[in-house]
Amino acid sequence: MKISVIGAGNVGATTACKLAEKDLANEVVLVDIIEGIPQGKALDLWESAPVEGYDTLCTGSNSYEETAGSDIVVVTAGLARKPGMSRDDLLEANTKIVQSVAENLRSKSPDAVIIVVSNPLDVMTYVTWKVTGFPSERVFGMAGILDTARFRSFIALALGVSVRDISAMVLGGHGDSMVPLPRYTTVAGVPLAELMDAQTIEQIIQRTRDGGAEIVKHLKTGSAYYAPAAAAVEMVEAVIKDNKRILPCSCYLQGQYGLSDVYVGVPAKLGRKGVEMIFELNLSAEEQAALRKSAEDVKSNIAKLKL
Ligand code: APR
Repeated sequence: MKISVIGAGNVGATTACKLAEKDLANEVVLVDIIEGIPQGKALDLWESAPVEGYDTLCTGSNSYEETAGSDIVVVTAGLARKPGMSRDDLLEANTKIVQSVAENLRSKSPDAVIIVVSNPLDVMTYVTWKVTGFPSERVFGMAGILDTARFRSFIALALGVSVRDISAMVLGGHGDSMVPLPRYTTVAGVPLAELMDAQTIEQIIQRTRDGGAEIVKHLKTGSAYYAPAAAAVEMVEAVIKDNKRILPCSCYLQGQYGLSDVYVGVPAKLGRKGVEMIFELNLSAEEQAALRKSAEDVKSNIAKLKL
């Protein structure tokens, strides 16, 4: 099992570290355009292997030769947000970067499952799918796990209970119009609305929507990476272990939820082949309208690109 992580910045290096510590693969290859960064970080990771007790060989490179034949690739290359920026402000710069990454992956790892993390997430996943020409089951994006993790972490704080007992669902694009679904959110099986008033739920939903921006405001020089990396690793693990986890991922829709030719967050069954099934939840008219609006926002950004 060989995993490549493209982009050795905050998200990429943290992802490689978490992957190695879970000892999920024989090899993790870190790639970046900055000379020395992927090599140095990968060597540092490998030197921590004896202490942590993993055998995952970590290597770094500025070329794609070393990524050849990867089973799974996590794409984190691209600019991160600075305070005051929305994810959409990264559109132009990151499209060029992700296009070149996808071209390299297409030729070097034609059978890989690709998990995209670069923002604006749903559009970058679409770009990767389009440029590689891979079946859409093998190209999907990490957003829903991060958004639900933020939602769950805030609910846990408000209720004073373990995050592990909270199950949540967030649909739609990874942006301001994401669609958290309190109706499908439970605490040890109890619907959220039985435990919190509507106003508190609304406040938590808003904090979830602004979750990425809240971190950017604190950091000032970049955006979140611990939780994004943890979420990407959960997806990699589901693919490697082929354990059919049902996780919210940005998937290519072909009629599901009445939407087509767009990537947005929906619950998906993940296995060795990638996205093995997309689940269609029963949505209220209001939830469906919110999902449609979110998908339209993603589509309007896709339309700005010359692919
Ligand atoms: N190929 C490989 N790596 C590249 C390329 C490229 N063409 N262009 C840029 N990079 C690298 C940069 O050199 C940098 O090391 O991508 C890395 C990005 O790292 P950071 O700036 O630390 O950004 P990070 O916080 O990791 O976020 C990366 O993930 O969550 C998203 O919005 C975030 O789009 C951003 C991406």
